[in-house]
Amino acid sequence: MDLLNTPAALRSQCRQWRAQGKSIALVPTMGFLHDGHMSLIDHARGRADRLVVSVFVNPTQFGPNEDLDRYPRDLPRDLALAQAHGADAVFAPEPGAMYQPDHSTWVEVPELAKGLCGASRPIHFRGVCTVVLKLLNLVQPDVAVFGQKDWQQLAILRRMARDLDLDAELVGMPIFREADGLAMSSRNVYLTAEERAKVPAIRQGLLLVRQTLAAGEKDAARLGEIFCEHLAANLPESRPDYVSFVDPESISPVAHISEATLLAVAVCIGKVRLIDNILLEV
Ligand code: PAF
Repeated sequence: MDLLNTPAALRSQCRQWRAQGKSIALVPTMGFLHDGHMSLIDHARGRADRLVVSVFVNPTQFGPNEDLDRYPRDLPRDLALAQAHGADAVFAPEPGAMYQPDHSTWVEVPELAKGLCGASRPIHFRGVCTVVLKLLNLVQPDVAVFGQKDWQQLAILRRMARDLDLDAELVGMPIFREADGLAMSSRNVYLTAEERAKVPAIRQGLLLVRQTLAAGEKDAARLGEIFCEHLAANLPESRPDYVSFVDPESISPVAHISEATLLAVAVCIGKVRLIDNILLEV
């Protein structure tokens, strides 16, 4: 497995593979890999001849008061895991290799980014789109694989790919969960033991909404209240940042659930903000 640190080295390696007729899969990550990432990597491994995993804590998707500096990092461990799961190359650049000091070009999908995470993280998706487009340009993959925990991110990236005529197929993989239902995330390490014991309440709240919908309650506002009541009872130290019912593709709000709808939530507890979602089928 190769460790590549510069865009030029990545481009040249991928160009060589394509000249040999090899298909390429890309898994973009910010590292500190967990089993959720591994499910993306394993899927990608089966989809192409060559597999590139990027490990880059992208500074442009963090706001000024967010956790860029303390975001967990462990490159040696990430390299060992990527290799064990069949990656052909890991791309792990320094920020200076990805962004010139006078970097001035940004990609935005404002319509899909204005709600949910975009409301409390105004520059987040601009940074995500820009870095993912840069990675797609460098690798020119046949397929790129993302997690559905960041559903809004995937919807935005798909819209970007459609609007800009990108060639890669963008695949979304189901949320990978701990045994007690907590969605896997690199940020789970921020939780104290006490918080960790209680946060499965988020997943339970999502399941409760699904049950309540199946029993006939289709009013999104009422279903949102049911989620919040469940959270207040089981995770009283938490504060929901948003509890949103949206169209899964356009991310526009849904008031009455009559077709497949995404329930997406962000919950703050202590210093941590956790996101999760569930696709509600009718
Ligand atoms: O989902 C993530 O880990 C990041 O947003 C991504 C797609 C790797 C871009 O930095």
